[in-house]
Amino acid sequence: MKKIVVRDLTKHFLRPDESRLDVIGGLTFDVKEGEFVSILGPSGCGKSTLLNILAGIETLSGGEILLNERPLLESEDGMRLGFVFQQPRLLNWRSIRENVKFPLEHGALSNEEQWHFAQRYLELVGLKGFEDYFPQQLSGGMQQRVAIARALAVEPEILLMDEPFSSLDEITARKMRAELIRIWQETKKTIIFVTHDISEAVYLSNRLLVVTERPTRVFDTVSIDVGYPRDYDDDRLFEMTKGVSRLFVKMEERHGN
Ligand SMILES: Nc1ncnc2c1ncn2[C@@H]1O[C@H](COP(=O)(O)OP(=O)(O)OP(=O)(O)O)[C@@H](O)[C@H]1O
Ligand SMILES: [Mg+2]
Repeated sequence: MKKIVVRDLTKHFLRPDESRLDVIGGLTFDVKEGEFVSILGPSGCGKSTLLNILAGIETLSGGEILLNERPLLESEDGMRLGFVFQQPRLLNWRSIRENVKFPLEHGALSNEEQWHFAQRYLELVGLKGFEDYFPQQLSGGMQQRVAIARALAVEPEILLMDEPFSSLDEITARKMRAELIRIWQETKKTIIFVTHDISEAVYLSNRLLVVTERPTRVFDTVSIDVGYPRDYDDDRLFEMTKGVSRLFVKMEERHGN
């Protein structure tokens, strides 16, 4: 089933002088249920804007988005989407269990169920034993795992991730990527993962969309037909990373910059 359909999506902002800044210039793609799709594009091309539109935080200017075959705006329950930002954005005055519980506090669950969900997802991301710690007592990678647990705790159908590992060192980022794949396989979520890191996108995804500079659109789609869990030293992944790098060169030549 097609979980998300994006058709001819456009988005512009108004600059301070009221001239138009075209950020998304007719973006079309779809994501199947349970698929891991990465959106790979240069800095400033509109990736975060796209995720914000999908999350309903930002409006679109044109085109349409369907979630479960219904227009985005009609899908009333915001609990469908989990969002992991580039920075963990935790509440420093709450324990990490209270952080994970936080988005559940205005939902339908009883207080006891909220604690139960928070606990379950903290364990899923490997933080059993740290429940009563405060964010500043954890490393950056652990904080990002709390953010992932918080996004999963609402049991979203779709997980939107905006460069969640880009502020981590490469060794920690590798561990986190492997962990994310494990969680994805265990929870069978549909994931849209934004990054500008080619090898990260190749390592993680079923499919990646290479998007252009602003106003962004899909330049090419690449399927990564390698089973999971994947090995960083897999020659096929290395070849595909080189292939995607060449696409970027081709894209820059075509766009003349
Ligand atoms: N609320 C806003 N008002 C005006 N312009 C905005 C707004 N949000 C984003 N932009 C502009 O839209 C463009 C795309 O921004 P966006 O944050 O989506 O890029 P990005 O691809 O996520 O970049 P990065 O990889 O650096 O995170 C930028 O030029 C930015 O200045
Ligand atoms: Mg961004």
